[in-house]
Amino acid sequence: MSLIRSVTGRPGTALIPLILVAFVAILAACTPSHDQSTFDTAGPIAKQQADLFIFIFWVAVAIFILVEGALIYSVFRYRSRPDDKIPRQVHGNTRLEITWTIVPAFVLLAIAVPTVKAIYDHATPPTDRGEPLEIVAIGHQWWFEFRYPSLEIVTANELHIPTDRPIVVTLQSQDVIHSFWIPKLAGKLDMVPLNDNVFWFLAERPGMFYGQCAEFCGVAHAHMRFRVFASPEEEFGQWVTAMRTPPDAPEPDSPAALGRTTFLANCSMCHSVDSYRSGGYGDEIAAQDLRWDTLVEQREESPIVSGPNLTHLATRNALAAGVVPLTEENLLKWIQNPASIKHGTRMQANAAVYKTSNNHVDLTDEELGNVVAYLLSLEPGEGGPAEAIPPSESGEPDAARGEALFAANGCSGCHSLGDDMLVGPGLKGVAVRAATRVTGLSADEYLYQSIREPAAFAAEGYTAGVMLKFPSLTDGDIADLIEYLKTLE
Ligand code: CUA
Repeated sequence: MSLIRSVTGRPGTALIPLILVAFVAILAACTPSHDQSTFDTAGPIAKQQADLFIFIFWVAVAIFILVEGALIYSVFRYRSRPDDKIPRQVHGNTRLEITWTIVPAFVLLAIAVPTVKAIYDHATPPTDRGEPLEIVAIGHQWWFEFRYPSLEIVTANELHIPTDRPIVVTLQSQDVIHSFWIPKLAGKLDMVPLNDNVFWFLAERPGMFYGQCAEFCGVAHAHMRFRVFASPEEEFGQWVTAMRTPPDAPEPDSPAALGRTTFLANCSMCHSVDSYRSGGYGDEIAAQDLRWDTLVEQREESPIVSGPNLTHLATRNALAAGVVPLTEENLLKWIQNPASIKHGTRMQANAAVYKTSNNHVDLTDEELGNVVAYLLSLEPGEGGPAEAIPPSESGEPDAARGEALFAANGCSGCHSLGDDMLVGPGLKGVAVRAATRVTGLSADEYLYQSIREPAAFAAEGYTAGVMLKFPSLTDGDIADLIEYLKTLE
């Protein structure tokens, strides 16, 4: 027997339980305990939005009951009976028509007043709830970049904020329209390319809150998530210090050390891991801009694309823009074949290391395991925050200061001080070689160019573009670095 009977029979009673089940399922979506529920609000913006929703909901319920009640009453009261004659025909009722025009106008007004008030309240942060913290959130296909301009911190997919302080977010997008939404805290507001939107929110209680891109932005839209970690001011301060603390260097020849070399050779063009250093913030922004420009210019052929910053990755909670928990197993699976966790990543589409017959990563199992070991070693080390190196006082090139800059900028990750090749050439005797490279350029000039514009003269056997620029280095810094390099005989 068919579930829904033919139009000539009675409506299928079997349909009623189905409708009831669907109704209960829909009601269950209203549970405040869900991670993305808008009912369990944790801040004034989300609360105002939820209150507005509940107010409009009950207004709609009242109207629904009135209108449907009148309808049902009329249907029964005035239904056709045997012996009925044709009723008196009427056309128009001025009083009734004026009433049903004015009443809805008042209903709309009642909804518009609190709505417009909420829009204005959301635009400017309150002045009596602490100093606002500015954050820039940038949407990328398909992950979120978070910059803290006043703290010079940059991170991805996990936003840390202090509680009880307004967070002023500037929303940007690098590619298509995304939307920023933290159901329990605030949202939604679109992230539009070339048109910044600004709004604020505040977390009144500590905790982890789920965020989600709320505007269809391509194949992995549903997998474009983020997490917000709200903690009291003191704990937030500890996070800020941790983000400026370099990780401990891996033990020589350990899997993490070997993994670092593989990572720097294959992944570091798109992923920064050293934004803890002084000047690292500006360098990362410059690198992201360069990555984006290169992608725009070269499209599918582009060897570099904007990638999430991986500084202190091991301290994060989730992987692949909040899709799976960060575990060794998931990280291995992710690097091996990103599509097994999330379709469509630019990493798999563009990075040279994925140009294989099945688009799996072109690394041996051992290399892959080493890279995972390296990434999971990226957490604040024992050494305390990275200090800015004070400017040179003498004005003369200073080899000792150059050595400190060499260490602080992580140059040794790619360049050995001997003649063995890591990611880049070994630097033993580099000053002698530099003098012979380009006719008309002295060693100093050649080394200056190689640091300032690394792509200009990639040494034979090395790919241009692997070495990133370090715009935070001043000409004085580079002079000191060159002075140091000259001592490597
Ligand atoms: Cu980004 Cu949807």
